[in-house]
Amino acid sequence: LVDLTTPKDLAGLRMLITAGSTWEYFDPVRVITNPATGLMGKLLAGQAVRRGAEVAVVAGPGVTPLTERTGLVWDTVVSAEEMLARALVRLPGMHVVVGTAAVSDFRPAKRAEQKVHKAAVGLSWPVEPNPDVIRTLAEQADPGTLMIGFAAETDNIIESAQRKRVDKKLDAVVANRVGLGVGFGTGAHEAWLVTADGVEPMPGHHKEETATALLNWVARHRPPA
Ligand code: CTP
Ligand code: CA
Repeated sequence: LVDLTTPKDLAGLRMLITAGSTWEYFDPVRVITNPATGLMGKLLAGQAVRRGAEVAVVAGPGVTPLTERTGLVWDTVVSAEEMLARALVRLPGMHVVVGTAAVSDFRPAKRAEQKVHKAAVGLSWPVEPNPDVIRTLAEQADPGTLMIGFAAETDNIIESAQRKRVDKKLDAVVANRVGLGVGFGTGAHEAWLVTADGVEPMPGHHKEETATALLNWVARHRPPA
């Protein structure tokens, strides 16, 4: 099917998107993870492809891949370390990188070979920090690559997002409110775009509209292809 109605304003643009949650196994059957579904990344990827971009998605294991056959490559990974390794393979030549993934900040410091039985009630399990995927990609990307992060916040939304943007050397951060019924696993969305120019509320109340607004911003700020 050829889409003749959508303007191809992102033609020539190569975009890397991380999506979904990572899974960090602590025994063969259990993981540390979070409720992210990958919806934001999928909406962005789908719209970007329809607008003419070439998109690479690196997604956690809970995300059903999009079925677009042209303009899209899809890698499924499990852990944060795998997400980083795969994204680094995809990074060369990218013009835009968007980190929508809810990467697990921690992983178990050890993994049991056998299932941990419930008799182990009261046990504690040491964790260690995971690498920061978008920060590492920003460090390794070619100069001029447009780097975009997301910030899931319950409070101090704008301040935290601006701090993360500066800290991770990103061009823009989409700050979004998470909590009951908003953010994780729902289409409902309340978001602000935080850049060096300041803060602007993003239109709409659905992730579909957030994706469109972010891609409009990308179209206005795209590095020369
Ligand atoms: N991110 C990442 N790798 C991580 C953690 C976060 O790539 N290990 C990215 C997310 O994809 C998002 C941005 O960093 O684009 C912000 O994620 P968020 O969880 O809001 O911030 P953190 O830096 O992890 O801080 P905290 O969870 O403590 O608020
Ligand atoms: Ca985090």
